[in-house]
Amino acid sequence: MMSTMGRLTGETYTGRSMSESHKHLKITESEWAAFCKDFDDTMAKFNIPEAEHKELFAIVESTKGDIVSAPSSS
Ligand code: HEM
Repeated sequence: MMSTMGRLTGETYTGRSMSESHKHLKITESEWAAFCKDFDDTMAKFNIPEAEHKELFAIVESTKGDIVSAPSSS
C-alpha cells in the first residue's frame, strides 16, 4: 500500500508527531474549517448522537494548534 497509510508497527506508532506531520503543509484557518465541516457531515451521515459527536470533535479540535500553521492566509 501507499506510504500515506501511516507508520503503525504492531501497536507502537513510530511516525512523526502531529506538528511534524502538518507544519510544512501550511494549513490555513479556512482549510481547517473545511475539514471541520467534513467531520460534521460525516457524523450526520452516520447518525452519531450529539453527545458522541461533541466528544469526538473535542479530541479532533485539541490537535488544531499542531495542524493549522498559516492562520492569516486564505
Ligand atoms: C484532527 C485532524 C487530523 C488528524 C488526526 C491528522 C492526522 C495525521 C497523521 C497522523 C499524519 C501523519 C501520518 C504519517 O506520516 O504516518 C498526517 C499527515 C498528513 N495530514 Fe493530517 N491530520 C489531521 C488534519 C489534517 C488536515 C485538516 C489536513 C489538510 C487540510 C491534513 C493533511 C495531511 C497531509 C497532506 C499529510 C501528509 C503529510 C506528509 O506526509 O508530508 N491533515 N495527518
